[in-house]
This record gives sequence, C-alpha cells and structure tokens, in this order.
Amino acid sequence: MQDPLREASPLRKALESPSLTRTRCIFPSMKIETFALERWMTAWEMKTPFDIAESGIFPMSVRELLAFEPSEESGRILERLLDLRLGYSEAPGTLELRSAIAATYRDTKPEEVLVTTGAIEANFLLFNVLLEPGDHVVAVYPAYQQLYSVPRAIGCAVALWKLRPETGFRFDLDELERLVTPRTRLIVINTPHNPTGAMLSAEDLRRIDRLACSVGARILSDEAYRWLEIPGGEPLAPPMRNLGGVSISVGTLSKPFGLPGLRIGWIAGPADLVAKCWATRDYVSLSPGKLNDALAVLAFKHRDRIVERMQAIVRRNLETAHAWFAEHADVVSWTPPRGGLLALLRYELDMPSLDLANHLAEKYGVMLAPGSAFGIENHLRIGIGQEPETFAEGLRRTSACLADLRASGTPLRASPGFLSS
Ligand SMILES: Cc1ncc(COP(=O)(O)O)c(C=O)c1O
Repeated sequence: MQDPLREASPLRKALESPSLTRTRCIFPSMKIETFALERWMTAWEMKTPFDIAESGIFPMSVRELLAFEPSEESGRILERLLDLRLGYSEAPGTLELRSAIAATYRDTKPEEVLVTTGAIEANFLLFNVLLEPGDHVVAVYPAYQQLYSVPRAIGCAVALWKLRPETGFRFDLDELERLVTPRTRLIVINTPHNPTGAMLSAEDLRRIDRLACSVGARILSDEAYRWLEIPGGEPLAPPMRNLGGVSISVGTLSKPFGLPGLRIGWIAGPADLVAKCWATRDYVSLSPGKLNDALAVLAFKHRDRIVERMQAIVRRNLETAHAWFAEHADVVSWTPPRGGLLALLRYELDMPSLDLANHLAEKYGVMLAPGSAFGIENHLRIGIGQEPETFAEGLRRTSACLADLRASGTPLRASPGFLSS
C-alpha cells in the first residue's frame, strides 16, 4: 500500500504546516477536577419540577422563534428548514451566522469569530490554545468552575480573584492588580457574573485591559450573560472585544436568548487566535450542527424581540423574589443581581448547603444549587430566568421547607466563608 505521506498531498502539507505544529494538544494528559455544579445539576434536573437554580432564561421553542416572523414568512422559513439537507456544516460556523455575531462587536470581521458548541467549548479551546503548563493565570472566583479548573488541569498556577460575601460580592480591582504578576499569561473574567450577578463597568474593563497590556497577558472575558441587563438597572458595559488588542470575548445563545439546546456559542478575538482554536476544534466537535446554525441566524435576526421576552420574565421574577426575601428576612437574604440572571441566596440555618439543596430537591421538588459547588458555604444559587409561575411556586415550596426545618429544631448559625479551593 502506498504511504499517503510520501506524496505531496494536502495531508502532507497540513502535517508540515507550521500553524498546525504550533497548535499543541494537551488534553490527552489532562486530569481534571470534578465539575461539582454539573454533577449536582444532572443528579436532580430530570426529577425536580421547580428548578429555580437554572442559569438561563426559560427556553424558547422553535415555534416561538418562528412566530417572530410575519405568518407567511414563517411558513416559508419552516419549509426551508424542512428541506435543509443535514450534511456537515461550514466548520467555523456559516458566514451568515459569523457575520451576525461579528456585527455585535466593534470593528470585528467574520474571520475573527469562531462558532463553537456553546461557550463551554469556546473557553475550553481558548485555554488549550493560550496556556502552557506552568503559566500563571488569574481567574475570577467563585465562578463557573471551568474557568479555573481547566487552567489547573493544564498545569497552570491559578491565582483566584475572589468576590467576597462581606463586600456584597463586588469586584475589587485593586485586589486584581495585586494578583497579576509579570509572569501572568491570562486573566479570566466573567461579567455579568455567575453565580453572584456582579458586573464590571466599562471603566473596570479598560483598567483590566491596561493591566493585562502592562505585563503582556491576554484577557478571556466570558460574556455568557451578555444582553441580560436588569430592567431599570445599570447598563451593561460594552463587550471586552470592543477594546481590540489582546482581549477576547466569549458569547453564547444559551443564557440571554433562552436557546441552550442549540449549543451555539462563539469566540470573538484576533483572527490568528481564532484560526488556532478552529484547528484544535477539528479534533473535538468539528462544526456546529447545520440546523442549529440556521436557527441561530434566525435568533439573531430577532434579537430585540428576544431581549424583550427575556426582560418581561426577569421583571416578574424579580418582583416575586423581592417580596419573598422581604417576607423571610429573618432567615434568607441576597444581593440582587446587578446584571445577568444569577445571585447567591444566603440562609441562616445551621446546615451545609449541599444537605439543604438535596433536602429541597428530594422532599420539596425544588432545585436551588448548593453554594459548596462554588466553594462558598451557607449560600444557594438562585436563577431569575425561570418561567414565572414555576419560579413563584419554587419559592413557595422553599418557604415551606425553611419553616419545616425551623419547626423541627434546625438552629440558626454563624457567619459564612469560602471553602478551601
Ligand atoms: C459563565 C459561564 N460560561 C459558560 C457557560 C457555558 O454555557 P454554554 O456552553 O451553554 O454556552 C456557562 C453556563 O452556565 C456559564 O455560566
């Protein structure tokens, strides 16, 4: 049999290409910490009717998405979707979708966008392409665990930039400055923030950009909760990518659009970096699903209507939540989200958060995620994106649970703190 590599074939060229040899693959040797929140969510989400821990907005159906079109046009689009031949799609995402995403950033071209399988794949590719074992990384904490566990698994030294309960979970930029060193290769931020609802302002982002530039580090800005402004609240800062230079924005349709089932996320960053992430993705998921890509294009077309839908849900749930916290102020409190959909609910019972979350799920059918999954005790994560009736019933059942625990003698407790991380 002929050896294909002995010929001047595209395969040979690809193997000799410097860009490919520079795209190092580290994941075969990766040993990774258990993704605590995902393990807990998967244990309960199929059995628990009142999920008020969810991080996204109540999902849309395909019918609802099509209904944004005038009825004749929606019929035509449906026919086109039914006739869509389900071959492999364009690997980096269709030009149409990448153009729609690029248009949401300043001075960004379609080749500076890679469509990924959710923001989770975007982050994973970026960590793999940007980081080497031994690199110094600063990552926000508490956080979506991927943001610090993957750098750790690569063998990086990860310094945690902590948001603390005692300061109402505010970002402390002075602390970030103390953590960044001349060896720092990457600063990982997330705004609006999961799980606290904290936000970085436009000036904060510029300060972080100057800090990163001063040591030659990159910034990965996970903006999974972009567009999720709180009605009547502070405006969201423009995405990090708008500052150009070393900054990278990660986005997704999962949270703001209520379309997590499409598994459409993206990287917006410098074209050379995007190309390297694409080359790495050849080994992971290859391309977005073709139908998902087409529905994502439709979602972008109706972004304003989708944002209106989202704000109506958030407005109702916030009203319900404010009344609930006021009614139970002796045992629960929170810092309401300044942006995004998430907050940490503090409770005063002397009970570990995992025990309380399991008890709520098993006996009351309610999901509120344990703070311990974020390394922070005496808190549960609450999401304000759920369908409003379900959200209200989830809180009513939580009231019943807290009352039953108090009646059965569960004592109140002392102050919270971070678990070792
Ligand atoms: C901060 C953050 N980043 C990324 C993700 C992953 O989102 P997806 O892969 O659904 O786009 C999540 C999901 O909860 C998240 O909270």
